[in-house]
Amino acid sequence: MAAPLICPSILASDFARLGEEVAALETAGADWVHVDVMDGHFVPNITIGPEVVKALRPHTKLPFDVHLMVAPVDPWLEAYREAGADYLTVHPESGPHLHRTLGRIRQLGAKAGVVLNPGTSLSVLEEVVELVDLVLLMSVNPGFGGQSFIPSTLRKIERTRALLDAAGSKAHLQVDGGVTAANAGACVAAGADALVAGTAVFRGGPAAYADNIRALKAA
Ligand code: DX5
Ligand code: ZN
Repeated sequence: MAAPLICPSILASDFARLGEEVAALETAGADWVHVDVMDGHFVPNITIGPEVVKALRPHTKLPFDVHLMVAPVDPWLEAYREAGADYLTVHPESGPHLHRTLGRIRQLGAKAGVVLNPGTSLSVLEEVVELVDLVLLMSVNPGFGGQSFIPSTLRKIERTRALLDAAGSKAHLQVDGGVTAANAGACVAAGADALVAGTAVFRGGPAAYADNIRALKAA
């Protein structure tokens, strides 16, 4: 089984040294940089604006995987794309026209992703499977890092993998929330090929990033 892509969530990083932190992730062997964008409305927290993403762009060549937890989401797509986002992932609940939103993301030249909360049905994906380059399954309810992994997510990963394979989709299947070296292996065995991790990567400071990423990849 191929090693999963590791996408550290900079929500758990030292915000006072963000540029150095994303550069350190590249040196430590990360594959993507996961950027959690929260608006204090769609989720009860406020984080990273487009100007911050723009300022971070020159500090690493790694793809920026921007997880948009904002509503309405459509007005923000272009700003994050221009700031340097490679992937833009949206929640179906964050706008009235998911099919149009995913099409718009690709029109902007970015990769399009859909995020399914723990309470969001997989049937949403059936309607837009040909429009996605990435499916993100939340294994926590969004809004904060450091939460515990919801075990029923493993079954949802299996069902999503089956749906993508049946549709002939090459989209990545990513898991986000409470991912650790202890549950990473089960996520990959269930069908995930990309893992977001905040706490599990940034724990121990920069000297520990490479070991933490290796442990997630090897699980
Ligand atoms: C939560 C975010 C996650 C979170 C992951 O809403 O979408 O990306 O930062 O952090 P950990 O790995 O600490 O759960
Ligand atoms: Zn996220």
